[in-house]
This record gives sequence, C-alpha cells and structure tokens, in this order.
Amino acid sequence: MNRKDWLKTAGLVGAGMFARPLQALPHILDPSLRRADFGPGFQWGVATAAYQVEGAWNVDGKGPSIWDTFSHTRGKIKDGSNGDTACDQYHRYPEDLALLRELHIPNYRFSTAWSRILPEGVVGKPNLKGLDHYDRVVDECMKLGIRPWVTLYHWDLPQALQDKGGWLNRDIIGWFTDYVDLVTLRLGDRVKDWMVLNEPMAFVGLGHMLGIHAPGLKGPFKFLQAAHHACMCQAEGARLIRLNVKDAQIGTTFSCSHIMPISDKEKHHKSTRRVDALWNRLFLEPALGLGYPVADFPMLRYMNKYIKEGDREKLAFDFDFIGLQNYTREVVKRAMIPFVRSKFVAPAKRGVPAEDITEMGWEVYPEGIYHLLKKFNAYPQIKKIIVTENGAAFPDTVANGRVADPRRQKFIEDYLAQVLRAKQEGVHVDGYFIWTMMDNFEWAEGYHPRFGLIHVDFETQKRTVKDSGYWFRDFLKGE
Ligand code: GCO
Repeated sequence: MNRKDWLKTAGLVGAGMFARPLQALPHILDPSLRRADFGPGFQWGVATAAYQVEGAWNVDGKGPSIWDTFSHTRGKIKDGSNGDTACDQYHRYPEDLALLRELHIPNYRFSTAWSRILPEGVVGKPNLKGLDHYDRVVDECMKLGIRPWVTLYHWDLPQALQDKGGWLNRDIIGWFTDYVDLVTLRLGDRVKDWMVLNEPMAFVGLGHMLGIHAPGLKGPFKFLQAAHHACMCQAEGARLIRLNVKDAQIGTTFSCSHIMPISDKEKHHKSTRRVDALWNRLFLEPALGLGYPVADFPMLRYMNKYIKEGDREKLAFDFDFIGLQNYTREVVKRAMIPFVRSKFVAPAKRGVPAEDITEMGWEVYPEGIYHLLKKFNAYPQIKKIIVTENGAAFPDTVANGRVADPRRQKFIEDYLAQVLRAKQEGVHVDGYFIWTMMDNFEWAEGYHPRFGLIHVDFETQKRTVKDSGYWFRDFLKGE
C-alpha cells in the first residue's frame, strides 16, 4: 500500500468515528514518514515559555509576575514547586541553543517575560538588563543559524499590573501595546516571526474562571471581561507589530481540541457545539472578523457589558498565520454544570487503555489534529496554519545516561502522519513545533509531567537528550 492510500485508510478510520464505540482508535504509524513529505518550506521547531524554563525570577531587575506570586502561594502547585529556578535557561541559554543546533532543529519558539522588561508593568521604567537579555538570546540564535520565534505573552503578567486589575482592567490594552512596542522595536530588526498571545482560552479560562492558574480568579463574569480584553490585545498587539517590524510574519496561538459527543443523542451533540464554541472558537473567530460565537454559546451575550463603542471593528486582524496548539481530544456529555451545561468524560471512563493516556491524563488521539486542521482550514480568513504546540508527557527516567521514551516518538510520528494527511488533502499547514524543547515547570502540575525532547535533572540542571530528541534529529537530517 503506498503512502497516499495508507493515509486515506487512516482517514477512513478517523472519519468513521461516530459509527464505532468511543474508544481509542488504533494508532496508525507510518514508519517511512520523511521530512521531505512535508515540503521544503515546512517549518520545524520546538517551543518553550519564559516562566516555564528561565528561572532567575528576581534577577537583574526583573519584577514579580503573577506566576511568581501564584507559585509562591501554598497549595497552588501540585508538588509545591515554583519557577524560581526552573531550567535556569536565563543563564544556560547558550548551552541549550547549542543543543538545538546539535539536534538540527532550525526554529526555536520562546516567550519574553513582560516583568523582566517592565518590572512595574508600565512604560517609563524599562529594565535595560531585561531587554539586553533577550537581545543576547536572539543574537545567540542568529549566530547558530536558529530562527527565533517570539511569543509576546505566555501567561506571566507583571504582578504590578495585576494589582491594578490585570486582565479585568480595560487599561491592559494600553499596557500591553506599550510592552509590545518596546519589545518589537528592540528585537524586530532580527526577529521576524511573532506570536501575540499564547492560548487566551487557557490563561483566561484557567486563571479567571476556574482559579487553577494565576491569578487564581473565579467566576463567569470575570472570565467574560478578561476574554474581551484579551481579544482586544490580540488584535491591537498584532497591529503594532505590523507597524514596527518590516516583513514580520505575525500570528497568535490557540489551544484547541477535537470535541466529540459521548453518543449520538442530540443533547450531547448540543453540548458538543457549546463546548466547541467556548473551547475552539471564542478567541479565534473575533480575530478573523467573525465576532463572538454567541449563537452557539448564548451566555457570551453578557460580554456586551464590556464591549465599548468601536471595539467590535478592532477585534479582527489579518494574521499571517494561526498557531494551532493541540494535545488531545475531548468527549463531552450534557451535564447540569452552570455556564457550560456540559462536562468532559475522562478517558479512563471511556475505556481508553492506560497506554493511550499521558501523564496529564490526556488521551492520545492523533486523528484529532487532523480534524482540527480541517476545521481551521475551512475559515477562508486563515492564510496559513502552524502547529505551534503538540507533544506529550510520559514518565521519563534516565538509565545509564540515556532516556528511552518510545511513547513520545510514537506520539509525534502518529500526529505527524495526521498533519501530513491534512496537508495532502490541501490544508495550508506549514509548520510543526514540538512542545517542548526540555522538561520544565508545567504550571499548576509542577515538574512531574515531563514533555521535553531533552530530560532535565532539576537538582543538577543536567540536560540529557532523550531518544525522541535523537529521533527528531535524524528525521530532520533525513530527506
Ligand atoms: C499550553 C502552554 C504550555 C503547556 C503545554 C502543556 O499550551 O498550555 O502553552 O505552556 O506547558 O501546553 O500543557
């Protein structure tokens, strides 16, 4: 069977999802997957985020962020840890970038820490040591022939701004654009690939609705208020990058999951539509000029309270790419839960075998990224899709200087097979970034979930490339 037929078979398997019991579909592994299949212009990389890897939380003038405050608050982080040191990448970035070079990884996505650059969050008092640091990181990337991709906001709001209301204060639109102005004017001569926000659904939902991420706020109206301000910043920030950086490629990233009903009953399909509107469309569609998906999630009409005259016209921006970030699928059922009136059915409760559940409790479901790529590609406003995050956490251990992580290699190969399937069906997907470069601070989960291609011993800071990292190197070196 040739590759095209093989992928079509994979497609049929995926497309038959309603006709079969909701269980993990056999993962399809095409051992002959090659870099060349994706075409010469396809961008390959790895991703990190400042708070998860940098450490140096209070070094060289950096101000506290909401994640410093949150992780220093007892009971917020599962293992009681924090990002004070993390991977110490603030100091070790030359060593880490050299590792990327050795692994033939051509693109590195990282974020700038707002409070390292503006310790008090507002302009007028930039921390030059903070700006100098990112200058050096970018220069090191260029020296090594690695293309830097910068995310401007990966959840670490300056605490000083949180003290003024943070994402609930509409002034954040001005605060954020002041920060974007500073960073893009400083780095824009060398950095041409920009992402405005990382996963607004995550930092707004987990941080302002459920309270399980910083700043730990709860309640639907805080969620809606922060959501609108984040959507405004998403577009305003992009417009400023367009102004400041000649020939910039501007994107922004969205967490998303393929959402499926637990059964074919209409009430579960209705829940699926609601969760899809909230989870996958709420932040994407305003950016595309489609406004908020109120028809499928009527509660969103309460956002009107926060939408000022002229806002709606400002929510859209002509992004050069959309960053799709996917880890799993979600299976939903109707439930008497306020606001969403739906619930996710955990993989273990759906008969998903343990070998298909990661350390995060997420189901390995490669076909999901295919469906998401098709879904995003169906928006005519989307010019290009880059998978800016995909990866998995498994219980990795070092034995005799080696980390055997076959499940991660299989995960990546199976997901890449589905990305290729979508691409071969005409989806404009032109990049894939693995989450993540190295094991790091996994937010409220602490350091237990290891997502990296590189193992980190957090006692000694020793880096050990995992087998999956060497596999990725050989894949990238290959044809
Ligand atoms: C996200 C964040 C990352 C996470 C990763 C694993 O997408 O949630 O960008 O910071 O660490 O997704 O949960």
